[in-house]
Amino acid sequence: MKFTVNGEPTEATPRAGQALRTLLRDTEHFEVKKGCDTGDCGACSVLVDGEPVHSCVYPAHRIEGHDVTTVAGLGTPDALSPVQQSFVDAAGFQCGFCTAGMVVTASTLTEADPADLPRLLKGNLCRCTGYRSIRDAFAGITNVTPRPCA
Ligand code: FES
Ligand code: FES
Repeated sequence: MKFTVNGEPTEATPRAGQALRTLLRDTEHFEVKKGCDTGDCGACSVLVDGEPVHSCVYPAHRIEGHDVTTVAGLGTPDALSPVQQSFVDAAGFQCGFCTAGMVVTASTLTEADPADLPRLLKGNLCRCTGYRSIRDAFAGITNVTPRPCA
């Protein structure tokens, strides 16, 4: 099966029933986190053809011919993406476990109405409950202070 990860051509043979998250970690994309593994927390979020998915419940066999982007594909340590930089500037993390997924999802929301952010972010949970600084990070990319997350 051929697909791209962060622009790199990749070949892999998924096991029966394998989820995209485990396929990505099997190919050393350890930036894709394992959280709940049931599609609830968003820690494993990646983009498939630019759309955010929870990779722990996304069937790996569906990825053939598609483009996957992880948090590592959004920028580099020397050239952070605007969303990554906004999370750094706002210290939008505590333990950081949710951060990769938050940043991946946020990268699709730069044009969103800030009033919609609580709804749009409901698929990404922070077990540290550090939502205030995460909201500040979103404010940095949208230039408007969003309403408090529910
Ligand atoms: Fe995928 Fe929680 S690990 S949604
Ligand atoms: Fe710890 Fe969000 S910063 S889970």
